[in-house]
Amino acid sequence: MARSKSGGKSGGKKAGYLHGFTAKERQRLREQARVLEPWIYDRLPFARCRHLVEVGSGVGAQTANLLRHYPEMRVTCVERSPIQLAEARKWLPSVPWAKGRYTLAEEDATALSFGRESFDGAFISWLLEHVPDPARVLGETRRVLKRGAPIIVNEVLNATFFLEPYSPRTLDYWREFNDHQIEIGGDPHVGAKLGNLLQTVGFTDIVTRVKVAHFDSRSPAERAEFLTYWTDLLLSGAPSMMAAKRVDQRLVDAMRAELDTVAHDPQAVFFYAFVQAEARA
Ligand SMILES: C[S@@+](CC[C@H](N)C(=O)[O-])C[C@H]1O[C@@H](n2cnc3c(N)ncnc32)[C@H](O)[C@@H]1O
Repeated sequence: MARSKSGGKSGGKKAGYLHGFTAKERQRLREQARVLEPWIYDRLPFARCRHLVEVGSGVGAQTANLLRHYPEMRVTCVERSPIQLAEARKWLPSVPWAKGRYTLAEEDATALSFGRESFDGAFISWLLEHVPDPARVLGETRRVLKRGAPIIVNEVLNATFFLEPYSPRTLDYWREFNDHQIEIGGDPHVGAKLGNLLQTVGFTDIVTRVKVAHFDSRSPAERAEFLTYWTDLLLSGAPSMMAAKRVDQRLVDAMRAELDTVAHDPQAVFFYAFVQAEARA
């Protein structure tokens, strides 16, 4: 079983971390937050929220977006990795609207140190796919929320990925990517299970929205931008998968060649869907 470097306190079983903690990955998280912003921020329930907890906040990429969309909000960022926190500590001061409005806490999402009902909103993005016990993370998050407070959870549903022209080596790599994530304790299909998970730990008013990124020749510029983002996402797993001997350089090169073909095909199609869940504590 591959284990990537993470560090920090832990309140339970710990999964490996597929994407790693390189400088390139930290930059990829900021780019991801930028590219996905129109899907994530189109109808969030935080208008009356004044103190939100962001669980699994990484380098603070979503924190910056949250603070820009909600000028009266403060955010407490919970993150287990000291490497990600160090980057957030370095980068967030360069975000003008964030000044004095966030706190960074090195914590494990499965065992939060905050008291009951400490926050009036919660936001979780791309964390539950990496943890062995997502219900425990959601249960802890609910405990620290005021009753009735809103939560938003964004999560992957990797079974939905499709590319035209047909790209079999990319799909081979993708299957290994997903199987590797499962092997190291995560769940690449957790988006489909958010309704069940939220209900299990007591959240109410649960709504799940399937967010679709579907690009073809009607929007070539967006298709090209998304494909670049997606290529970086795929490659972010390569070092961890190569160390685990799941993929080799030949497969990575074959995938790169296919993605290059897709990028140059005027009839190319990209399709992916993730799930955004909204609920009340
Ligand atoms: C894919 S990143 C997403 C970061 C951020 N939410 C974003 O959208 O940019 C997932 C983050 O969750 C963190 N993480 C994983 N397991 C955790 C845990 N048990 N407690 C707190 N953070 C955790 C990782 O260190 C990583 O920074």
